[in-house]
Amino acid sequence: MRIIGIESSCDDSAVAYLEVKGDRVVQLEHVVSSQIIHAKFGGVVPEVAAREHSEKMPLLLNELASRVVGQLSGPMLGEVIDAIAVTSGPGLATSLRVGLDSGRALAAAWDKPLYAINHIEAHIYSNWLPSLIDPSPLEGADIFPALALVVSGGHTELLLVKDHGKYELLGATLDDASGEAFDKIAKLMGFGYPGGPKISAAAADGDRQAFDFPRPMMNKNNFDFSFSGLKTAVRYFIDKNRNRMENPEFIADLAASSEQAIVDVLVSKTVRAAREQKVKTVLLAGGVAANAHLRNTLRGWLAKDVPEVHFVEPELTYCTDNAAMIAMAGYWNTKHRDPDEWSAIEADPNWELGR
Ligand code: KG4
Ligand code: ZN
Repeated sequence: MRIIGIESSCDDSAVAYLEVKGDRVVQLEHVVSSQIIHAKFGGVVPEVAAREHSEKMPLLLNELASRVVGQLSGPMLGEVIDAIAVTSGPGLATSLRVGLDSGRALAAAWDKPLYAINHIEAHIYSNWLPSLIDPSPLEGADIFPALALVVSGGHTELLLVKDHGKYELLGATLDDASGEAFDKIAKLMGFGYPGGPKISAAAADGDRQAFDFPRPMMNKNNFDFSFSGLKTAVRYFIDKNRNRMENPEFIADLAASSEQAIVDVLVSKTVRAAREQKVKTVLLAGGVAANAHLRNTLRGWLAKDVPEVHFVEPELTYCTDNAAMIAMAGYWNTKHRDPDEWSAIEADPNWELGR
């Protein structure tokens, strides 16, 4: 099976080519163009994002085609592929539209089956992509039921994955997503956008216990999250300590203590869900999955509390938005459902998985 993935749900334009034989990846090419233009606005501006996607998408597809089949001789990309997978939600309506229309146009012109893919489902499938240490991390594994912790800029969710394509939402954030919390705290600290990687870097030299920030809902007996109270607490704390903001030690402690508060909440709820739901596997997914402290802490707690559970982390390249994960989700979709009608699919900005 040879499949093209297309992603444009937020501020990353991406395309990928995936060839799978017997559930093993034999070729993967992926190209991402991240829109740095939003950094100067301190966040993603939807109409700017859509325009950038429109400019980039043909260039990316052209680059992909030349990587897969070469430029001058050989077949055209449309002749060698079997299906097209494209993100149709959730995300920004105007951004989604650009990728979706590219996918629809290619499917119509090449007469290929088209699969509309849920972006959150695709993040979960990033765990099936080759890692540096394992070319096929989940091939042949006894995976289900699995628990997915999806942590991105727009989502923070715990999903029970009963099988390929079968999801039950256990809990989600009631306000800010964890990536949003990282980004907003980073903005308060004067770092640029996206803030997650910057907080993470600054936290490396800090004392994680220096300041005791709230861990909202951590001890509530459900799987929901809330991060806006933490952000507000950090804002008040910074207002009271303006005179210390030039001190690198203070900044490191502030970053480390904030990161610890976010990680504590995510890890404690995930470990409890893994235990109570009796899952075989925990899958980490989404941009915040790139956070080293989250990966290490979750790995450690799962090993201690539920050692029988197999913990899977996506390769760093595939944590933030990319189209390789869309192609991989597309591949598994081809196995359990019919394609979508290219003339009928619509962007679905609020598409919720497992509700
Ligand atoms: O999945 P993603 O690329 O886009 C969405 O679907 O939202 O996630 C982007 C989010 C941003 O909020 C960014 O700050 C966060 O992932 N992020 C991180 C790290 N790398 C990216 N957060 C914490 N630590 C990181 N290393
Ligand atoms: Zn994403």
